[in-house]
Amino acid sequence: MTPHRSAAKARRAAAGRGALAGVRRGYDRWAAVYDSDRNPLPALEEPQVRRALGTVRGLDALDLGCGTGRHALWLARRGARVTALDFSEGMLAKARAKPGAARVRWVVHDLHRDLPFPDRAFDLVVSGLVLEHIGDLDRFFREAHRVLRPGGRAVVSAMHPAMFLRGTQARFTDPATGRKVRPGSLPHAIADFERAARRAGFSVEAAAEYAPDARFARRFPRAAKYLGWPMLVVLELRAGRRPRGRRTDGCAPAAGRAGRTARPAAAARPLWTCPRCGAKLVGRNMWHSCGRATLADWKARMGPNARRLYDRFETLVAACGPYHVAPAKTRIAFMARVRFAGLTALSERGMRCSFALPAPLRSPRFAKVEEVVPGWWVHWLRITDVRQLDAQLQRWLSRSYRLMGMQERLRPRDRRR
Ligand SMILES: C[S@@+](CC[C@H](N)C(=O)[O-])C[C@H]1O[C@@H](n2cnc3c(N)ncnc32)[C@H](O)[C@@H]1O
Repeated sequence: MTPHRSAAKARRAAAGRGALAGVRRGYDRWAAVYDSDRNPLPALEEPQVRRALGTVRGLDALDLGCGTGRHALWLARRGARVTALDFSEGMLAKARAKPGAARVRWVVHDLHRDLPFPDRAFDLVVSGLVLEHIGDLDRFFREAHRVLRPGGRAVVSAMHPAMFLRGTQARFTDPATGRKVRPGSLPHAIADFERAARRAGFSVEAAAEYAPDARFARRFPRAAKYLGWPMLVVLELRAGRRPRGRRTDGCAPAAGRAGRTARPAAAARPLWTCPRCGAKLVGRNMWHSCGRATLADWKARMGPNARRLYDRFETLVAACGPYHVAPAKTRIAFMARVRFAGLTALSERGMRCSFALPAPLRSPRFAKVEEVVPGWWVHWLRITDVRQLDAQLQRWLSRSYRLMGMQERLRPRDRRR
């Protein structure tokens, strides 16, 4: 890591520590009303997490940030051997007082420290609505992965980062003072969760976002103002082997989605690694920004809407397979073996994104389609709303990733997938 990047990381960590200084105290006070304050988020989350957990009988399960024991006690009722951990004594006291609590091992522990369990001690990790309180996502996922047996699963839910755009974060009305209290949260992006999970060695089997509908809002009136707005994200992860090396923000490799690894392309020479910045390129003569423009710099300049568009676009790219982010001064490119997609003119008003294919597609959605070199058709879209980053664009990107990014267009036709 360059001095610039480590300083930026240290600054971010310090800012995070400040924002989170009151979390434990906040939850100690929230504990009195946590189970009764008609908070819509746990209600939206619960059925999704339980469905994702599936059959748990006989499993060794660990609940990280268990609070008043919602998931831990359910797991124990379903026949799992449960260990549940939280740093708020107030929340744990409520949990311990509930029926069935004697079947759970309750542990007081701060998730910003390594977990007090040996490697490979559990089959299942669950963590409900905790991530916004975690500064060091890498440690969180690394430790979750370490204590899981190979092939073990983790189900991790979080308040959707889009809630921050509505000014919402974990908060409660303190019964003692009548005041609204925000224990302290950080506005991570879903891409941050997924990247940290993959860096730890997880594959992302599902990442689903949930919004309340009218029926739900009738039961939980506080959700009425978020109709159709994503409130919740649930990640389903599987522990694989931990990848070697680590990714920084600009040029090093990011692993892709669920169990997909880069298939060797027909013209698969090993990639050349830039000795200065670690960028991986098909050849040493390819231009790259060599660390002069970093993703951290880009992100620091993004307003909330720009960040939302960027994160969503990167999520679409991440769903294609292993990729690299290659930021330059005026655009951010996304690479597999070579660049296949990118975005530019990113502002609060929108952005232009592009992807390449060997032949032109026709759609009214394209602002421009141009053949920049023979057989390299770039398709440009103007994006102003995150809803435009949809399933159709995902399909186009996946095709672009495969044919151009992974150079499959260079393979003999019968060997393409
Ligand atoms: C929104 S509550 C969720 C509780 C429970 N998982 C649920 O879904 O009902 C978040 C919980 O995370 C816990 N928490 C936050 N930061 C933590 C940390 N650094 N270490 C341990 N627990 C933490 C809080 O004490 C709180 O109980």
